Amino acid sequence: MANVLFIKANGLPAERSVSVKLYEEFLKNYKASNAGDTITELDLFQVDLPYYDATMMSGLFKESTGETLTEDEARLAKVANSYLEQFLAADKVVMAFPLWNFSIPAQFLTYLFYLNQAGKTFKYTAQGPVGLVTDKEVVLLNARGGVYSDGPMESWEMSLNYVKNVLAHLGIKNPQTVVVEGHNATPDQAQDLITAGLEKAAVLANKF
Ligand SMILES: Cc1cc2nc3c(=O)[nH]c(=O)nc-3n(C[C@H](O)[C@H](O)[C@H](O)COP(=O)(O)O)c2cc1C
Repeated sequence: MANVLFIKANGLPAERSVSVKLYEEFLKNYKASNAGDTITELDLFQVDLPYYDATMMSGLFKESTGETLTEDEARLAKVANSYLEQFLAADKVVMAFPLWNFSIPAQFLTYLFYLNQAGKTFKYTAQGPVGLVTDKEVVLLNARGGVYSDGPMESWEMSLNYVKNVLAHLGIKNPQTVVVEGHNATPDQAQDLITAGLEKAAVLANKF
């Protein structure tokens, strides 16, 4: 029985969001195929995610060096660490997120910053950083209105690529992905593109 963390990085309702549609379809199918698993849903738009500011950074740094933290530093370090611990406790993680302004929502960026902690999720070596999170299976569900998989916009894709690179840095090398793209660029094909993506999400959820 696996401990599975579902992360939703979009505050829109499913009717208005392709990535939330993917999230709900994946979750529904995963639950049906894995009734005994423990599932935790984390909606990043419903929780308080304080910015990775100087106080939080100072708190996390002092913690790593064994210095005494101020009350505010301790409070903010605890927030980041609680999300990190939840992530580390999961056997499997599903992340659903949109491409917005070529990137990811700020809430998701802040969350990923919490996870990126030297000595906990990666370490520095003479050969460069080495990821320490090597025991986790991850699925990424992404939606982007334009086409980025090839063509002139390919290098502008800093949503899925960013998340994949951050995860690789942590040691998670081969997340499985479902991407719906181009539904805004070609509205006449939008329904078909979304339906195909939902089918892929369902198939993957049933074997994940
Ligand atoms: C704030 C915002 C920014 C967006 N920026 C881009 C963009 O840079 N490029 C693009 O192709 N589509 C962009 N879009 C369209 C989204 O990629 C598209 O709506 C996609 O379906 C997003 O996932 P969602 O439906 O789950 O919100 C943007 C949409 C929003 C709301």
